[in-house]
Amino acid sequence: MGNRDDVARFFDAYAQIFDGFYTGRRGRLLRWFDRRFRRDILVRFARTFEGFGDLRGRTVLDIGCGTGPYIVEALKRGARLVTGLDPAPAMLELVRDRLKGTDYADRCRLVEGSFPGTDLEPHDHAVVMGVMDYVADAATFIRTLRPLVRISAAVSFPSRHWLRTPLRRLRYRLRRCPLHLYDEVGIRRLFDAAGFSGIDLWKIPGAGMDYHVLTHP
Ligand SMILES: C[S@@+](CC[C@H](N)C(=O)[O-])C[C@H]1O[C@@H](n2cnc3c(N)ncnc32)[C@H](O)[C@@H]1O
Repeated sequence: MGNRDDVARFFDAYAQIFDGFYTGRRGRLLRWFDRRFRRDILVRFARTFEGFGDLRGRTVLDIGCGTGPYIVEALKRGARLVTGLDPAPAMLELVRDRLKGTDYADRCRLVEGSFPGTDLEPHDHAVVMGVMDYVADAATFIRTLRPLVRISAAVSFPSRHWLRTPLRRLRYRLRRCPLHLYDEVGIRRLFDAAGFSGIDLWKIPGAGMDYHVLTHP
């Protein structure tokens, strides 16, 4: 267990359900669960764009773009080009659906593949949200990211929680999807070793589990 194919397969099957978090199209119980336990997904979204500042004329790379909420927001904020990378075709299909008929669709480029392992050019900003959970070699991932970022990168990391972590581990084990968790010391070490110049690291408070990192090359 634990290879990239497992991750891609898991997210390919999970795309519609995952998208429901952003669209609100899901059952009452899940919506309650989202409000109670997944608020950090919205918090990290807001913090990422606050950290990037003005995106007009900028380029943005979204690694593990999923169904594309960050892609759409960056385009709406005037990004010149947004590249979305994801290994799950069903996720990319939902991005295409989201972009269809908009006047910014032609500023988006979608690439099917995993990171590292896909050739990408440097962008002004990079987004890596909700992805490090599934990355076995975080050191190589962050080191490979460094030369692709010109201005800043926003990266989220899942932390450990006494109640949620064992439940989440069980859920993911049943779905044959690997799960990797982090602590503050380990995260700082990853960015130092990769040569990033300082990181702004914030643990999202409450029942959520994420660290949010804003960093510069
Ligand atoms: C939880 S979703 C998050 C999607 C989006 N970033 C968001 O915050 O809404 C994680 C996504 O990362 C993708 N992913 C997982 N490992 C990846 C890797 N090594 N390279 C690129 N994408 C990856 C999955 O296919 C999935 O679509």
